[in-house]
Amino acid sequence: MKKFMIGTAATVLILTIVFSIQQGLLFSTTLPYDDEQTGLDTQITIHLSHVVAENTPKGQAATKFAELVEQKTNGQVKVHVYPNASLYNDENEFKALQDGKVEMIIPTYSKMTSYVPDWQVLDLPYLFHTDDEVHEVLTGPIGEQLLDELQPFNVKGLGFWHNGFKQLTAEQPIHTFEDLQGLRIRTMPSKTLEKQFSLAGATPVPISFSEVFTDLETHAIDAQENTASNIYSKGFYKVQKNMTVTNHGILGYSVLMNEKFWEQLSPKIQKQLMEAMKETTEWQFKQAVLLNADDLRKLQQEDDFVIYTMTDKERQRWQEQLAPVYDFYRANVKQPHLLADIQQIIAP
Ligand code: SIN
Repeated sequence: MKKFMIGTAATVLILTIVFSIQQGLLFSTTLPYDDEQTGLDTQITIHLSHVVAENTPKGQAATKFAELVEQKTNGQVKVHVYPNASLYNDENEFKALQDGKVEMIIPTYSKMTSYVPDWQVLDLPYLFHTDDEVHEVLTGPIGEQLLDELQPFNVKGLGFWHNGFKQLTAEQPIHTFEDLQGLRIRTMPSKTLEKQFSLAGATPVPISFSEVFTDLETHAIDAQENTASNIYSKGFYKVQKNMTVTNHGILGYSVLMNEKFWEQLSPKIQKQLMEAMKETTEWQFKQAVLLNADDLRKLQQEDDFVIYTMTDKERQRWQEQLAPVYDFYRANVKQPHLLADIQQIIAP
């Protein structure tokens, strides 16, 4: 009995020592102080929520930004990316950002126009002609000016990212402006975007991006406008038969951070984040163009999906028919001069 008790006590003692070593309770050392070191107690986490797939211009840029932030901060800041509206969708992501439930979101600028009506200038049809023009405007002083308008919302604008030019998909072929008449067309919530379709006698339906596929599939809507990369990555071509390459407008993003969170960061971290942002932006504008060209090629290879490319003459007609959208825009924003400022920068 005595031997048994000694044996049991010895086993318990050995197990306790092994467990303590495993858990770091014995022989633990404190991390030496080093400004560059990733100490657990100084780890900063950014939760970044967005609504598209990972293999899209925004999805890829978010991943690139996360990698660059980790690299530049020597692992001190980690960015966790939540794609595909897995955390928040179009309707609730801005509130989640303001409430500090996530630190970063990347909404399209069109979806921000109910807060910042002046951003509708970016939704004007046929304003931009090339991706380079979009880059020049959004990464220059006008971009800065647009981001400054976020101040009343306790949100820090880090910059703008690009997706590309929008095309139309529909059940039936769309060649003329008149072909839009009577269709229920999904658009992002922006008065200017809605106006462009109501002018054509269509009904604009502003619904969340995550609902578009199902609404097309169930014929709750007849058509939608989007970039080739979003059309391909979300499989809209599987539930629509036709696409028209209209290049009638642009789709892009504002990269937003909770302002309180931003202000709590040290100047050194803020600088590193801005460097990561700048590098990602330069990379992503080029990458977005490549990805859209690639996804357009993939769409062209789909058997039951017909792609029609507008002629210059047809485009000219659409442009004339959409001209009243510009009057609507001017009457509905505080700084209509932004349009002339942009037009001055870009080629006619
Ligand atoms: C996005 O690219 O974030 C979504 C675009 C859309 O809502 O159509």
